[in-house]
Formats: sequence, C-alpha cells, structure tokens
Amino acid sequence: MLATHQRLYVNIDHIATVRQARRGDEPNPVDAIAICEASGADGITAHLREDRRHIQDEDITALKTAIRSYFNLEIACTEEMINLAVSLKPEQVTLVPERREEITTEGGLNVAANSENIRSALVRLSDAGIRTSLFIAPDKESVDWSKKVGADSIELHTGPYAHDTQNPETIAALRYSAQYAADIGLYVHAGHGLTTRNLAPVAAIPEIEELNIGHSIISRSIFVGLSEAVREIRQEMDQARLILG
Ligand code: PXP
Repeated sequence: MLATHQRLYVNIDHIATVRQARRGDEPNPVDAIAICEASGADGITAHLREDRRHIQDEDITALKTAIRSYFNLEIACTEEMINLAVSLKPEQVTLVPERREEITTEGGLNVAANSENIRSALVRLSDAGIRTSLFIAPDKESVDWSKKVGADSIELHTGPYAHDTQNPETIAALRYSAQYAADIGLYVHAGHGLTTRNLAPVAAIPEIEELNIGHSIISRSIFVGLSEAVREIRQEMDQARLILG
C-alpha cells in the first residue's frame, strides 16, 4: 500500500545561516520548530556541516529536546558525525556527501566508492535505533548500492530536476528510481531545490513518502512568515497527491 500522505520535513538550516551572519543569538532555529509543526510539517531536518557554517553543535542538542514530531539529522559519513548521531539518537539520520568549498550539497553520495565506510556507519546507526537514509543521485546504480550497504531509505537528489524542470529526463529519472527502490524494499524520500512552483511532479510520484525542503520555505518566510510559507508548501504537496486518491 502506497501512502497518500506525503511527509513534509522542513529543513531549518538557513535560519541559522541568518544568525551566523552576525554570530549572535537570533534568529534561533529552535523557535521555528513549533511553528513548522503547527503549520503542516511532519518533521524537522537539520544539517550539521563539518565547517559549522550554519547549524552549530548546541543547536543539534536543543533541536533534539524541542522537536515533538520527528528529527532527521543530515551529516557526512565521518567518524566524528556518526559518534555524535549515535549519542544524540535523532529518529532519522541522512548521510550526505560534503565538500567544504561547495555552496550547498551538490551531488549524491558515491556509495560504490565508499561502500565499506557507509556500511559500517549504517550498522552503528541502526544498532542505536536510528532509521537510516542515503542521499543519492536518481540512478539505478546508486539505488542498488544503497540496498547493498543496508540503508533503510534513500533520499533522491531532486537538484538536477529543479535546475532543469523542462527536461523530461530529469523527472523520468526520479520516477524510475523511486519505483525501482520501492520494488527492492527501500523507503523513498526526495529533496533539494524544491519550491511551490516545481514540486508538484515530484510530490505526485507515489513511492516518494517524504520531501525535505529548506531554502525555498525560509526564503518565502521573509515575506509571508514561516507559518504561511510552510502551509503553502503543504498545500501544494497535498494537491499533487490528490491524483493518488
Ligand atoms: N536534502 C538534502 C540531503 C540536503 O542537503 C538539502 C539541503 O540542505 C535539502 C534536502 C534541502 O534542499 P533545499 O534547501 O534546496 O530545499
């Protein structure tokens, strides 16, 4: 049975980006949680980057305490980050590739090239009771490797689609990968670059159970407030899922 309700996880990193511009104490990402949860978010996502450019270690601990819904922590697959996740125990960890010089997460994980490292990290996370996900490119090889190394879920990188929505191949790759992944027993998430203007075709893919959306929500919240920005995205997702009955 495919779920018609698609979970929305709001990525609150860029609230911390604004705070870090002044290295002060506002705005505090923790203050966003209750607003997001009351406005249609099913969970909160935060990315603790190695360079700590937005979310800080103290944020992660405070978020864990304050989140009433579901906490998806995004981290690179390093010893430091896996240790931190295992002691924090968020409900979900998504492993993402990370390069210091990138502006945001650029590609999917190269699971094949790092399979042993990822496999042992997934074992440690699972043993701690954490659900695991790998952020990957929407292609068969990456899906196969994710299954091989023991992930519970994958998050399909929607960046290539978001940057080239008119190219039918970008949405076709997402459709194919989502269906194939579900067929071999993986839960399917998606995210990166999604907005109210481009998310409908992705939200309508039946196997995609969760969307992670950050930048467009936080950007829009400057003009309409966070609550309304989350509601707009939620409404667009629900509308797109109506075709699934
Ligand atoms: N998923 C992953 C793995 C990401 O790294 C990001 C960006 O932090 C997102 C989703 C959200 O992307 P955006 O901020 O473009 O909505």
